[in-house]
Amino acid sequence: MQSRFLSLSLRFILPLALVLGLSAFVVVPLVDDLTLRWFMRDLDARSQSLANALKEPMAEYLPAKSERRIMQLFDRALQDERLYAMAFCSPTGELLYKTRTYSDALGCGLGVDKAAKRPALINLPEGPVHVTDSPVEVDSQYFGRLILVHDMSFIERRSADTKRYIITMFAVLGIIISLITVFVAHLSWRNWLQAMKGMLRGELGPRPLHKNTSQDVMPLEGDLRALLHEITLERRTREDATYSWTPEKLRTLLHEELAGDEIIVVSNREPYMHARTGKGIEVQRPASGLVTAVEPVMRACSGTWVAHGSGSADRDTVDRNDRVPVPPTNPSYTLRRVWLTKEEEQGYYYGFANEGLWPLCHIAHVRPVFRSSDWEQYVEVNQRFADAVIKEARTDDPVVLVQDYHFALLPRMVREVLPKATIITFWHIPWPNPESFGICPWREELLEGLLGSTILGFHTPFHCKNFLETVDRYLETRIEHEASTISYGGKLTQVESYPISIAWPESSPERPSVADCRAQIRQELGLSADHLLGIGVDRLDYTKGIVERFQAVERMLEMYPALVGRFTMVQIAAPTRSSLDEYQNFEARVRSLVQRINNRFGNGSYQPVILKAEHHSSEQVDRYYRAADVCLVTSLHDGMNLVAKEFIASRDDERGVLILSQFTGAARELHEALIINPYHIEQGAESLYRALTMPEIEQRERMRSMRSLVRDFNIYRWAGRMLLDAARLRQRERISSKIRSHSRKSLRRVV
Ligand code: G6P
Repeated sequence: MQSRFLSLSLRFILPLALVLGLSAFVVVPLVDDLTLRWFMRDLDARSQSLANALKEPMAEYLPAKSERRIMQLFDRALQDERLYAMAFCSPTGELLYKTRTYSDALGCGLGVDKAAKRPALINLPEGPVHVTDSPVEVDSQYFGRLILVHDMSFIERRSADTKRYIITMFAVLGIIISLITVFVAHLSWRNWLQAMKGMLRGELGPRPLHKNTSQDVMPLEGDLRALLHEITLERRTREDATYSWTPEKLRTLLHEELAGDEIIVVSNREPYMHARTGKGIEVQRPASGLVTAVEPVMRACSGTWVAHGSGSADRDTVDRNDRVPVPPTNPSYTLRRVWLTKEEEQGYYYGFANEGLWPLCHIAHVRPVFRSSDWEQYVEVNQRFADAVIKEARTDDPVVLVQDYHFALLPRMVREVLPKATIITFWHIPWPNPESFGICPWREELLEGLLGSTILGFHTPFHCKNFLETVDRYLETRIEHEASTISYGGKLTQVESYPISIAWPESSPERPSVADCRAQIRQELGLSADHLLGIGVDRLDYTKGIVERFQAVERMLEMYPALVGRFTMVQIAAPTRSSLDEYQNFEARVRSLVQRINNRFGNGSYQPVILKAEHHSSEQVDRYYRAADVCLVTSLHDGMNLVAKEFIASRDDERGVLILSQFTGAARELHEALIINPYHIEQGAESLYRALTMPEIEQRERMRSMRSLVRDFNIYRWAGRMLLDAARLRQRERISSKIRSHSRKSLRRVV
């Protein structure tokens, strides 16, 4: 701070000294010289006109040698206060008449400066005088010379006054300039520092609402952030070409980039449920894309997973802190369970999350329902989970990975208590357009909650765009589209797309071969070895397009009757949210459609559609994938859909065809699938027929290309990308807090 004080003092003294020096050595002599010339010119003119006026009377009095009258004339002229003395010299240079004030030293020959041919400036003991010497000539008769002496001391007085005024004026000016310099320098230093700190921290704040950051720096900040974003994207593309994402790679990355920082995941659905069955307590894996994706990441990086304990034996398997090490066979991270009452689960999970937000975001023609009581439970439960996260945190800056639409409010709640936490929120479902989202009565609260995140992730750039537009519509924020950031309440949220994926399966000797799976599954279903098999694996959810899928099967059998008796569609449908009316109605609709199709095209032993509405383990599902000729993913709207990727990963024989809805995030990556509009039943039917009759070579080419993409763009890459981005932001935050603490110290020293 001493140096800062010194620099501020210099900023004051230097301009002042400069201005004073300039006035003393340049301006004053210049003005002095100029005023002298003005006065001289003025006196010349006055002398000339006085001499002219006196000429006539002098010519009259001189011949008569009337001294009295001449002296009276001189005295009258001397009444002009500046005229000091007068004299008259004969043509021979004899001093004939003079006033009393005329100095003898002047005599008759000093009236003009001979060299310069101009009136003389003479220093007498009484002071400086201006002397002119004018001939008195009337009608060509020359009488002699009239000498006029003007007092110059007033010029000196005026010059001294002028000098004083000029120096005073310049001194005042200098002080003002110095003060302005110091003030501006101080202000710009502070603003620059603040702006840089803010930028490093990512703190732009909603500028229209905040006053203390220089508006001039804002475009620069935006440009810098856009540049950083561009560099990050370039680096990402470069890294993708060289990195191969594995659990080890993710572990190394966490070690190097996050240097042992704490990781806490929070989601509604838990990765392992303990259920009481007739055989005792059993561990179950829920059917959830989210769990499929996040669990391998947690295995790789340890940490704590906070989730709702919903299994019937969950309470019996936790310690006194509600923690249980998982996976049960080979524990590598901690599951911290949060308990909910029936009312809380009803309001927060079934009500607000699944009757409100789920249909709101999927736009699958099921109307969202919003009730105040559900909202209250949603707020309450978000706070409960936020408290659990805060309690689990061992440090003040953990990396918190918030999962999905169950916890839109939690990011801000955690941020308020742990401002230094890096909060990455991933929205696993689609984000709708602003008009659709605007239906929600608590839209602003949800957006504000989400903007507590450091990073907010979606599956696709399209969902990011929808989110930015929604925020733009309903909140006062500052959005930088190039950098994909939102500044709100002095905090910055990076909105980014991270397409989710799966863990690429490791080859295991226990895994049955494709040939075995084909044979066994057909046998189990009572089908011949060459029977064509379609597979669908979904939760029994109205967004999955299961009805449209079966309608396409029905239509195909109508259009290609040769396939009746030769093709069967197996649908694995895990029961989900079954206490909700919409889900019950949907299940009933699906069941009646299956019945209708089977009645139409089936017979005693043949059923074209087999509905397996029960939970299946991942090993069981894998067997079906490997046994099938075609996998149908026909969601009406889906964030990503991991079934599509699981099917591809399971087909190490490079056979099988994927039919994929254009309304899934996966369709943006898996271009070699047969992409369909599930609402268009004939198109679905044609695609199904095309898949079942596709030559092996084409199947192989398509499958090979999709396999290489899913292998490289796997779940470790999804997590790695987010965590790398988080690590970069943390690094920036650390630099920025160093600057903050440095400037605080400096300020203290000054005060
Ligand atoms: C989707 C959601 C997940 C959810 C899963 C299963 O994938 O994005 O958050 O866990 O469905 O739904 P459930 O309600 O059974 O957890």
